[in-house]
Amino acid sequence: MMIKEKSLREKSIVFIGFMGVGKTTIGRLVAQNLYRSFIDIDEQIEKKFQMPVPDVFKLLGEPAFREKEKELVNKYANQSLKVISLGGGAFMQEEIRDVCLNNCTVFYLDMPWDSWKERIHLLMADRPVLQGRSLEDIEELFYSRQAAYASHHSKVTIGKDSPEEIADYITNSLKTAWKLYE
Ligand code: S3P
Repeated sequence: MMIKEKSLREKSIVFIGFMGVGKTTIGRLVAQNLYRSFIDIDEQIEKKFQMPVPDVFKLLGEPAFREKEKELVNKYANQSLKVISLGGGAFMQEEIRDVCLNNCTVFYLDMPWDSWKERIHLLMADRPVLQGRSLEDIEELFYSRQAAYASHHSKVTIGKDSPEEIADYITNSLKTAWKLYE
């Protein structure tokens, strides 16, 4: 049986990037703009395990979290017409990178370290990966993840614009690409 390749317009859109750059907020807005359903992978993991992400790490361990993350990304990235936000660590798994890059349009939300570190106090409490680490360790983690995030289809650098402005920019650039390539 021949498997028909999805058109660019049909493909789901995936947001990647470091913790706390706004993947969920921007993803939700882009989904609204495009009348698509929005899937937040962390939220799906919480539903499956019936507990918040920090409890999953504490009670079940990071490997159980990563396994469920892989299973759910595989499920949704194979579907069409969704907008999906991934957790910041998801793209470290090769299988997740492959399924997203082969089936979806992947947007990297990039933020320079100097801007990101200003927001760290907002993130510490519910990001188990940051807890117990010094600022130097977190900076190392930040830069060590750039190599995985470098695999994407499109990149937006987050500066002073509001989430609404960024979402509108992404929506318009998607619509332009759909027109151009089809
Ligand atoms: C993680 C990022 C979090 C969440 C979990 C692990 C990571 O998602 O998946 O705490 O390893 O970077 P956000 O990127 O939405 O904060």
